[in-house]
Amino acid sequence: VIGFIGGTGGFAQGLAARLRAAGEEVVIGSRSPQGDIVANSEAAKRAVIVVLAVPPAGVEPTARDLAPLLAGKVVISVAAPIGVRDRRAFAEPGELSLAELAARAAPEARMVAGFHTLSAKALARLEDPLAEDVLLCGDDAEAKAEAARLAGLVVSGKAVDAGPLEVARWLEPFTAVLVSVNLLHRAQSGIMVTGLD
Ligand SMILES: NC(=O)c1ccc[n+]([C@@H]2O[C@H](COP(=O)([O-])OP(=O)(O)OC[C@H]3O[C@@H](n4cnc5c(N)ncnc54)[C@H](OP(=O)(O)O)[C@@H]3O)[C@@H](O)[C@H]2O)c1
Repeated sequence: VIGFIGGTGGFAQGLAARLRAAGEEVVIGSRSPQGDIVANSEAAKRAVIVVLAVPPAGVEPTARDLAPLLAGKVVISVAAPIGVRDRRAFAEPGELSLAELAARAAPEARMVAGFHTLSAKALARLEDPLAEDVLLCGDDAEAKAEAARLAGLVVSGKAVDAGPLEVARWLEPFTAVLVSVNLLHRAQSGIMVTGLD
């Protein structure tokens, strides 16, 4: 079971739909449970793999609240400290990445950062394959391998191991580059890493 924290957002909805279409069981969490949408804590409890898909400001407090439920689980942080202001993309990274802040707040979670380069809009178009790569970083090799397996269900490109969790400091804000490209070209761009075997 893959549990989505912040599961009602566009990014989580698109990723969850793709994973469901690939045969995975998903559970959608929210701060306001209703019908099939459960509380974030319930989604974390039921999940084997957790996707932390809340906005940047919510990452650390949410990880802290759920820390006991995240212990021992693979947690994929997709949050990127970016946005659009006056039709321009911006990044506002802190000293630590959001994924590192989440890992500090939930120290027993097996934290992986990744999937930031996918676009919620592109994810939502289930009929269109995503011909792009997914970049992952983290300090737990098995957790990264689990995240890579999920990436393989979602994109036709590769899951690329980008290194330890600290690499999220540069990976997370990179999404602002893609958003800038998207604004300029009216596109939903992604990335492919070349030069790998
Ligand atoms: N959109 C993209 O294309 C894209 C691409 C790359 C990465 N990301 C990252 O993916 C994450 C989700 O993106 P999104 O566009 O889906 O975000 P979003 O719609 O703004 O937020 C996702 C969900 O998080 C919950 N939430 C909102 N504020 C919260 C808070 N302060 N604390 C806890 N939960 C809160 C809300 O659900 P409830 O009200 O139901 O609890 C909301 O539906 C973000 O961190 C973003 O940086 C997005």
